[in-house]
Amino acid sequence: MSGRDFLCAPINYSIYFIDTIDSTNNFLKNNYKAYPDKTALIANKQTAGRGRFDRVWISDDDICFSILFKKFHYNNIIAPLAVALALKDLNVDAGIKWPNDILINNKKVAGILIEDLYSNDFLASVVGIGMNMHDKASFDAIGLTKFTDLSKKEIINSVINHYNFLLELRYDELVKLYKKYSMVIDKKVIYKGQEYTACDITENGHLVLLNENMKLVISSNEIDVKGSLILNK
Ligand code: BTN
Repeated sequence: MSGRDFLCAPINYSIYFIDTIDSTNNFLKNNYKAYPDKTALIANKQTAGRGRFDRVWISDDDICFSILFKKFHYNNIIAPLAVALALKDLNVDAGIKWPNDILINNKKVAGILIEDLYSNDFLASVVGIGMNMHDKASFDAIGLTKFTDLSKKEIINSVINHYNFLLELRYDELVKLYKKYSMVIDKKVIYKGQEYTACDITENGHLVLLNENMKLVISSNEIDVKGSLILNK
């Protein structure tokens, strides 16, 4: 891996670039002991990029990077927010579709894969962020090049700077911001055939659903958003 030259990134981050790798998440997960807290690995190309539910994540001249955290943070809330705020700076109207897809005009512009490592205790968390620079019709994905002239590096820089700012916020402050960008909170949703209102997000990023009979807390692993959670837009 080559050394850091990210002049505008926060000083306390170790930033590495690599041309080609299987997956930036895989690398940081497998090597978390060798790298300090807040290590970011940015790849030009991934040969085996992974999405949630072990889906393949295809990137072709797109943005792929992962950040290693060795302390617990509300990453399920912070990561999508950091991307949404970076896009807001570009005057792009993006929303967070729970748990952590970022959409523009209902098309996916970014996806996030958060992998926590535990033995008995928390060891580390790897937050992988993929952002499309180009449209991909077959995935209903939208790219950023039509919205900005910024380079991939500049966009990553912006996401990392927002991330770093968000790490300092309290949970209630994060939730307030998250709600502003969420496409799900305060909306009617159908879960397993029943209608609920999505009313909150927990510290673990679980979604709180409420109707007159029941309050449910669902984890992002329980459902495939495209499958059983239907959003009433
Ligand atoms: C998803 O939407 O399912 C999550 C996609 C996450 C993709 C990123 S790209 C950088 C990092 N490395 C991976 O293998 N995956 C994440």
